[in-house]
Amino acid sequence: MENNDLIKDIKININEYIAHIKEEIDEKNALVITHGCQMNEHDSEKISWLLEKMGYKIVEEIEDANFIIVNTCSVRHSAEDKVYGQLGNLKNLKNKRKNLKIAVCGCMMQRKESREYVIEKFPNVDIIFGTNNIWKLPELIYSSYNGKKLSIDIEDNPLDIDDNLGANRLYSFKSYVNIMYGCNNFCSYCIVPYTRGRETSRKPSDIIKEVKNLALNGTREVTLLGQNVNSYGKNFDNGYEFYNLLEEINEIDGIERIRFMTSHPKDISDELIYSFKNLDKLSNFLHLPVQAGSSRVLKLMNRKYTKEDYLRKIDKIKNINPGIALSTDLMVGFPGETEEDFKDTLDLVKKVEYDTSFTFIYSVRENTPAAKRTDQVPDKVKHDRFERLLDVLYPIQEKKNKAFVGKTVDVLVEDISKKNNGNVSGRTDEFKLVNFKGTSSDIGKIIKVKINSANSFSLAGEKIEAW
Ligand code: SAH
Ligand code: SF4
Ligand code: F3S
Repeated sequence: MENNDLIKDIKININEYIAHIKEEIDEKNALVITHGCQMNEHDSEKISWLLEKMGYKIVEEIEDANFIIVNTCSVRHSAEDKVYGQLGNLKNLKNKRKNLKIAVCGCMMQRKESREYVIEKFPNVDIIFGTNNIWKLPELIYSSYNGKKLSIDIEDNPLDIDDNLGANRLYSFKSYVNIMYGCNNFCSYCIVPYTRGRETSRKPSDIIKEVKNLALNGTREVTLLGQNVNSYGKNFDNGYEFYNLLEEINEIDGIERIRFMTSHPKDISDELIYSFKNLDKLSNFLHLPVQAGSSRVLKLMNRKYTKEDYLRKIDKIKNINPGIALSTDLMVGFPGETEEDFKDTLDLVKKVEYDTSFTFIYSVRENTPAAKRTDQVPDKVKHDRFERLLDVLYPIQEKKNKAFVGKTVDVLVEDISKKNNGNVSGRTDEFKLVNFKGTSSDIGKIIKVKINSANSFSLAGEKIEAW
């Protein structure tokens, strides 16, 4: 794939371990299971790239694998429970298949409590590594095959090493690119600053080089990843900001759509808002997580904006780009959230009219400030508010989607429908999911589709012509 020589930049003997594994281990079929967000998805692409360098074949089914890597997420209790369930199943499988190796990595392994629980309850796990040391995998595999009971590395190594790894990308035409790592915001409910460490931005020149390389290899859509992309560049001393990076990427031949996630409302600048008008490749879509509509709750969450601040920014964005589609993250049941606070969330949602949303029930994360609060909201109240929130969100989403009926849109086709009904699916510039009759030859192309119908979650239409 992209620059195979990058690994040479790594000033350690990683290549030696790779060579040993390539030669000395016979059967090499690996399955990578990914939980969590786009950061993890992209980390798994890097892991797969390294595995292929070691001569592994990447497989899709548990039955075909003799090495299984579980890339974990800690953001909610339910995400961790899912992993424990999976590790339980793998424990049984390993009792039957002695040569199976199991590795666990990702955000859960950065948390002492979860890591120690895995070590204690799942002694069949062979390898453990953290989010900043993917590059250590060859060494860890090597020592595991050479008799080490548990090969483990979770230290915070310099990020620029992982930064030099390539990625075995899931799609050739749309790619994730890290622009920054970590988070400094410490929202009072959130575990991410503890699992991903402090915020650091990659150098613009490294990012541009990577995007140019991707464009040469067929990428048409690039998604820039960071927990808080609006604070990109804060560790530079030359005033270079996120919108400057967007301007540079907008000039790269071959790139047709630019997306990014996630941006924090407190840091969204006027320059960035104007980019939605000025940069032709920047997609007509903004994911701006609000979390809650009550200024009191937002303060307790340490979000550093009020309901009014957020609505003002949304108004500005809509004025500058009336066609923009808006998305958000919402959380119900934060400790101390009253019925009145919750109604503020409903009110905000009605005012903004989101095109799409990710909704969550607050989940206690040990050792975060919010977990220590004594005014936790009862489960029944949380679930009830969650349902009421969806009852407001979904009709708005349906109305927004129905506005597309009769229009012709450009769809970047991504997949064949899993239902095997002759449909393909893809996304419009506004990130709307569109289903229409097509074939595998449409994948990776931008196709004009006339929209005939819509519901709260997707659009359906027919192909007009291929570009
Ligand atoms: N950096 C991104 C969010 C990363 S986590 C941002 O600031 O927007 C993705 C989402 O998970 C968050 O936006 C939040 O809505 C949700 N989330 C985080 N911690 C949570 C918790 N403890 N319980 C429930 N949802 C949570
Ligand atoms: Fe978590 Fe807040 Fe950082 Fe997002 S900005 S990752 S919600 S601490
Ligand atoms: Fe992402 Fe989950 Fe980690 S949301 S950053 S994989 S805790």
